[in-house]
Amino acid sequence: MAFVSLDPEQPIWDRFFTVAPLVIVGSKQTDGTYDLAPKHMAMPIGWQNYYGFVCSARHATYRNIEREGAFTVSFPRPTQVVTSSLAASPRCDGDEKPILTVLPTRPATRVDGVLVEDCSLALECELDRITDGFGANSLIIGRVVAAVVDERDLRISERDEGEQIFDSPLLVYLSPGRYAEIRETARFPFPKGFSR
Ligand SMILES: Cc1cc2nc3c(=O)[nH]c(=O)nc-3n(C[C@H](O)[C@H](O)[C@H](O)COP(=O)(O)O)c2cc1C
Repeated sequence: MAFVSLDPEQPIWDRFFTVAPLVIVGSKQTDGTYDLAPKHMAMPIGWQNYYGFVCSARHATYRNIEREGAFTVSFPRPTQVVTSSLAASPRCDGDEKPILTVLPTRPATRVDGVLVEDCSLALECELDRITDGFGANSLIIGRVVAAVVDERDLRISERDEGEQIFDSPLLVYLSPGRYAEIRETARFPFPKGFSR
């Protein structure tokens, strides 16, 4: 086996592929409209209902959430990969993202925000904390105050999990720059006696 050493003084993350989720974070802008931006560095923070993501402090998303104290997270399906990408369209001269006006959304229920329609899972979060200082990036963590999951994606004991995911596949982001639709899955081989 041959390994290639990577320079830890340089960002290493574009030198290989890693598996990540892809979510769309929503936040309220100063003009009262709503911003949407894709994020792949995102995950639950523990088993209580916290959700966090890494955000550049240069992005409007960061400033919006710091000011408004809330954000939403929509989990797109593989069929919504183009929608997710368009939410990263560059801003034009007036600092607007015109594409946002055509992405179908619905209002959030517990926070001032919008959620992307037809996603499998939608979270509404109140800002818990922002931790700055990871280079130009920060960790934004919210408390989940409302969550809805599409009936097709809800785990219920009577349903075969493999069939459920096959029928309603999941979107993964393969960083950098690729994605996959996950349909074929297998049960994880937990060791005997395992408990979390
Ligand atoms: C597939 C994809 C994944 C991204 N993941 C992240 C991420 O995890 N963190 C981040 O800060 N930006 C990420 N971005 C970039 C921003 O979300 C994007 O530039 C966005 O348009 C910033 O918009 P805003 O200024 O309205 O916040 C990603 C972009 C794409 C296309």
